[in-house]
Amino acid sequence: MAIRTYKDVADVPPSLRPSLPSSFDVVGDIAVIKIPEGLRSHRESIGRAILRWNPKIRVAVEDHGVKGERRVRQIGFIAGERRTTTVHVEHGLRYRVDLAAAYFSPRLASERRRIADLVHEGEVVADPFAGVGPYVILIAKRRRPRRVHASDANPIAVELLRSNVAANRAERVDVREGDARTVLREIGPVERVILDLPHSALPFLPDALAAIGTRGTIHLYRILEQAEEADTERQIRSVSRAAGFRVVDLRRHHVRAYSPTQHHTAFDVTVARGSRPSGPDRSQTGGHTSRTRASRASGRQSGRTARRSGARGRRTRR
Ligand SMILES: C[S@@+](CC[C@H](N)C(=O)[O-])C[C@H]1O[C@@H](n2cnc3c(N)ncnc32)[C@H](O)[C@@H]1O
Repeated sequence: MAIRTYKDVADVPPSLRPSLPSSFDVVGDIAVIKIPEGLRSHRESIGRAILRWNPKIRVAVEDHGVKGERRVRQIGFIAGERRTTTVHVEHGLRYRVDLAAAYFSPRLASERRRIADLVHEGEVVADPFAGVGPYVILIAKRRRPRRVHASDANPIAVELLRSNVAANRAERVDVREGDARTVLREIGPVERVILDLPHSALPFLPDALAAIGTRGTIHLYRILEQAEEADTERQIRSVSRAAGFRVVDLRRHHVRAYSPTQHHTAFDVTVARGSRPSGPDRSQTGGHTSRTRASRASGRQSGRTARRSGARGRRTRR
């Protein structure tokens, strides 16, 4: 008989059962679970229960969060094979990943789709924080860009990125290893820049603007309290103006809930060269020349579809 949830077969004391996580990520055939402190001594039982619940999952690891500039996940093995490499399928494309060596999260699949859908035919796109390539390969395969520049500072991410570009036969993708600032200086002009470094993307905005030709769009990601979002918009407008750009459009999109009070938030900023006459920031004085929209709550859906079959990734109720 099929096991309805891993909780049914997890060997933990009854008093602790209510603390069992209701969801976890699956990347390829690896389950990645955050285990509450009170259950840590039972982590192996939890891992074994996950493998029993879904035999397509071959590895269960404990997630200690992503750390450092390279945003690499800290992992502990709890059951199954001892490996952190796998192949993850997203939007029909295959990605080699190494969870302990280069950033990858299946929770951003909907956001990658949203961005790819915005790319126009003939665009030059830059993704200087490309990781193993889930934005750039989707854009190259599903849209018709003129060129996609994909780079990352982590050499292991770049090695996986190169291999993923080749395995998916993605064309017109230029891959390089390097710091975002250096790469952005080398590749311009571009029409779209993806700044996917949510904890520290804002300092890279001047570099992204410098890479834009006469007009373009920057997708800037941040982790923010809702009360901080308006201030980030003000900073975006101010940095853009200082770089000689007019903000033509500025939209805000909640990618997903990050913590009880914070969101992973995307700012889609369309700019055109040629600032208006200098003066106070009109966005701060009520004279908006660009639209600002907030779309909410879409992120919560992005990785929680219950699906027992297929170890296909996404955060799933289990
Ligand atoms: C949050 S991850 C995003 C990865 C990718 N966009 C994705 O969706 O999987 C941020 C990436 O930026 C890279 N990174 C961090 N600082 C960097 C820098 N200064 N220059 C280039 N890459 C950097 C990290 O190595 C990491 O792969």
